[in-house]
Amino acid sequence: MNQSKRYTITAALPYTNGPVHIGHLAGVYVPADIYTRYLRLKQKDVIYICGSDEHGVPITLRAKKEGVTPQQIVDKYHAIIKKSFQEFGISFDNYSRTSAEIHHKTASEFFKKLYDDGKFIEETSEQFYDKEENQFLADRFIIGTCPKCGFEESYGDQCESCGTSHNATDLIKPKSAITGNTPSLKETKHWYLPLDKYETWLREWIVVGHKNDWKPNVLGQVKSWLDDGLRPRAVTRDLDWGIPVPVKDAEGKVLYVWFDAPIGYISSTKEWAKRENKNWEPYWKDKDTKLIHFIGKDNIVFHAIIFPAMLKAEGSYI
Ligand code: MF3
Ligand code: ZN
Repeated sequence: MNQSKRYTITAALPYTNGPVHIGHLAGVYVPADIYTRYLRLKQKDVIYICGSDEHGVPITLRAKKEGVTPQQIVDKYHAIIKKSFQEFGISFDNYSRTSAEIHHKTASEFFKKLYDDGKFIEETSEQFYDKEENQFLADRFIIGTCPKCGFEESYGDQCESCGTSHNATDLIKPKSAITGNTPSLKETKHWYLPLDKYETWLREWIVVGHKNDWKPNVLGQVKSWLDDGLRPRAVTRDLDWGIPVPVKDAEGKVLYVWFDAPIGYISSTKEWAKRENKNWEPYWKDKDTKLIHFIGKDNIVFHAIIFPAMLKAEGSYI
């Protein structure tokens, strides 16, 4: 392996809709911790970055179920998760949360830059709507059959059986996760990242440039998605929990949780740098920095396809 000057190690931001369990620790946080400690022993310049993922539909569903606000849910589980990591001896250099002001600002500005640079497609389309709840049904609000593998309990944004990410309207026999009703369709405007435009670059970067850096199952999955062809993905949602879409005429819309959460790695790095009186930028923008993500397998598409495409679209990141 070639020698890098500095290492940015991230561990998937856990959702604050429940405690961390031993599977999370064994699969992600302990391996990343061991690797980081190893690099520190070798006197490398390394940071180990994490934080709580506090947006998204699962948290709002949990709040509904418990009869409390989403904020109460995330406050409760952020505290529990943070304490678990401390007691377990996980040596993060920083543990932040996506409700932090620095994160809202960083994610907003990231979206705004892509918006101003014309990197999004703006499109009005028909989305699933639950008339009884007066609510659009995106992501985990909707369940149906996966168009790729036929799994009957696939979510609107991603199938947990085959890992494929899709748009909710791709599902076969969709139903509302709140009421069980068959949803109706209603028009709404959203912003899409045209992943198809990054397909050639992604293929080159993944299959040629980093051929030996990926685990075999990751490379296999990613190749198969690329071979199927990528399509534009909505990066905004009709939801009242999350980071408001920072453009006009976007009331009631927030950034898609999988758009803001990986940016959490960047804002957590910024928080660390501020506290330690360091410069965060080399950890994300210097070509001699190696960025390594520790994740679970249902996170592959977001870390190997979508987040890299976002960083590429922004332009100043490794
Ligand atoms: N919260 C997600 C999960 O538990 C992981 C988010 S990772 C990040 O599956 F990249 F978005 F930060
Ligand atoms: Zn599937």
